[in-house]
Amino acid sequence: MNQRIGIEAMALCVPARYLEMEDLAQARGVDPQKYAIGLGAKQMALTDPGEDTVALAATAARRLFDRHRIDPERIGLLICGTETGVDHSKPVASYVQGLLELPHDMRTYDVQHACYGGTAGLMTAIDWIASGSNAGRAAVVIAADIARYGLRTPGEPTQGAGAVAMLVSNDPRLLEIDRPAMTGMFSDDVHDFWRPHGRREAVVDGHYSVDCYLEALDGAYRGWRKKALERGLVRWSGGLASDGLAHVAYHVPFCKMAQKAHAKLRAADLAEVGRPLDPEAEKMEAVRGARSFEAQVAPTLVLPSRIGNAYTASLYIGLLGLFSANDRALPGRRIGLFSYGSGCASEFFSGVAGPDAASPELKAEIDRLLDSRERVSIAEYEHWMNTDPVAPPTLEPRPGTYRFAGIDAHRRLYLRG
Ligand code: CAA
Repeated sequence: MNQRIGIEAMALCVPARYLEMEDLAQARGVDPQKYAIGLGAKQMALTDPGEDTVALAATAARRLFDRHRIDPERIGLLICGTETGVDHSKPVASYVQGLLELPHDMRTYDVQHACYGGTAGLMTAIDWIASGSNAGRAAVVIAADIARYGLRTPGEPTQGAGAVAMLVSNDPRLLEIDRPAMTGMFSDDVHDFWRPHGRREAVVDGHYSVDCYLEALDGAYRGWRKKALERGLVRWSGGLASDGLAHVAYHVPFCKMAQKAHAKLRAADLAEVGRPLDPEAEKMEAVRGARSFEAQVAPTLVLPSRIGNAYTASLYIGLLGLFSANDRALPGRRIGLFSYGSGCASEFFSGVAGPDAASPELKAEIDRLLDSRERVSIAEYEHWMNTDPVAPPTLEPRPGTYRFAGIDAHRRLYLRG
């Protein structure tokens, strides 16, 4: 039986503080246009020790359960995708289970493959439901991370943090995933980005990582397109196959990356139908490409441009931004998604927006979360970047949020506001 499976609901957690990119550019003696235009970044989320990955994940999950009045007994699987957990052994998922007082009769674990971990969790949840192993229950998948490269590194303007919690079920009111086996995959053993044990900051071969991302996209998209054409989800019919997608949400390490990705995706289509040969036709394609970026991709970048990279959560923050735009034309339309994790693993998949994909309540909630953040100065930013991650907390948790509160013997303690 072909069941409907996908994302029923989503919730976001962003850190309470942010840095204006203009302030960072000024402090680093860089032309602000490099960050604004060259990277597409306006603001960057900043965590303090109280906002570790567990606190971000648990806060997003709490919001999901509370806003949608989810009966915890409905949940049989809790997966957290993260590459910035707090322990080499104890998963973030088990902290979340404890903090939210979820039932014991469920599977809980973390998934790690750089920024791809959230998607690995989502795909596992979908397969778990499709197989019938769920016995009627739903899954919660959380993508949560803190992206850190360190002060005065080329990666510094591409930091950020956040968490997205997703309820995955047979009632895909936000996004019904096209399945079965409707995804395109590309993985390889590459050394583009890594974080050796004991290091807080990631190390990256920046320009090479961009190339790895684009090569993975090309492979994964072609794999998805082949299946999507066979099933009639998209067609060539005078245009490009990707024109059949109302929107494409990409993994967003920085917003300009999505622009490069979209150009690559169109190039993969043009390679199939024939590239423009004369300069006039090439100019026309440049115009069409820019228009297509504005229509298909720009709406997914509103939140990432204000949050920065959140590794596993980045793709889903972009998707949530699309849903929170309250676009009445969105329900019923097909969306493409590209997930990339360095190292590397990637997947291109698609889904159809459900009835809740345009909701004024979601928009109000996201606006409130972003607007209630505190802007920090460069001095405060550098202070928090240099602070010991287990330093005593300085802030009380806001209502509905969790904060790390210190270590008692070996136990990490959290407070709920
Ligand atoms: N006005 C407008 N644009 C300007 C400018 C100015 N004054 N000055 C420079 N620019 C443009 C450049 O032309 C360039 O544009 P293009 O990419 O279109 O050529 C852009 O700004 C960036 O400039 P540089 O390439 O000179 O920047 P950089 O060398 O300082 O580093 C970076 C850029 C490699 C992305 C670096 O920020 C980095 O290493 N970031 C972390 C790695 C990363 O995010 N990789 C992405 C793929 S890996 C992945 O996706 C997984 C993940 O999450 C990490």
